[in-house]
Amino acid sequence: MSNRSKGSGPGEGRGGSPVDGTGTGSTAQPLLAARGLVKAHGRTPALRDVSVELRAGEILAVTGPSGSGKSTLLHCLAGIVRPDAGSVAYDGRRLEELPEKRLSELRRTDFGVVFQFGQLVPELTALDNVALPLMLAGTGRSLARERAGEWLERFGVRGQAKARPGEMSGGQAQRAALARALVTGPRVVFADEPTGALDSLAGEQVMAALAHTAREAGTAVLLVTHDARVAAYADREARLRDGTLTPLEVTA
Ligand SMILES: Nc1ncnc2c1ncn2[C@@H]1O[C@H](COP(=O)(O)OP(=O)(O)O)[C@@H](O)[C@H]1O
Ligand SMILES: [Mg+2]
Repeated sequence: MSNRSKGSGPGEGRGGSPVDGTGTGSTAQPLLAARGLVKAHGRTPALRDVSVELRAGEILAVTGPSGSGKSTLLHCLAGIVRPDAGSVAYDGRRLEELPEKRLSELRRTDFGVVFQFGQLVPELTALDNVALPLMLAGTGRSLARERAGEWLERFGVRGQAKARPGEMSGGQAQRAALARALVTGPRVVFADEPTGALDSLAGEQVMAALAHTAREAGTAVLLVTHDARVAAYADREARLRDGTLTPLEVTA
């Protein structure tokens, strides 16, 4: 569906050869790599020296209790928030070195984001919400709407195409928000508690749809959740506590 012309090329400007230390046999360079992230909100420390990697096509769950820094980490990795210290490299480029204009362009072309509370445009129908990122990227209106309809279908909410966010249930809006995040064929989707507003059955359905479509398209997913059943859809889990990643047993 998407055109990935430079998926697995070697990154630029890297001297050493990063070694994957997880013992899973993969030696591919990570698509996204954070090193030593530190971020405080005023005087509240949110991240203290966090390093984490996301490989192409991988689904990584970031888990941890409320206030542990999950959303802050997601925002730093997605280039929405600049960390106080540390770096984020995406596909060989350091986000902190990109001018704001290049960074927002990169976010639009390569990243899809689902915020904790959906954040659809309230004035637009579900269909137009999903068509919007395509139109911003230059796709004509009728083709954009056709594609948007297909993505609503994948997430089981085509019937809500003409509904505005206020006329949909929380779960329907969340599905539409996921469709919107995936419609442009991003290489990475950042999803902050995408099932947080849903009951457990709807949450699992949404998560299954997200995992299925991401795997099909080869999209990497950074998934923030505090729900173990949702995390179970991920390939790997990174656990945060008080702004620090706690080591996990490596599952082979
Ligand atoms: N905008 C903000 N202003 C002040 N403190 C914040 C802000 N955002 C987050 N924090 C604080 O930073 C810490 C980490 O928050 P957050 O990243 O939202 O954690 P999580 O997503 O795991 O609940 C918490 O102590 C939280 O209260
Ligand atoms: Mg959060």
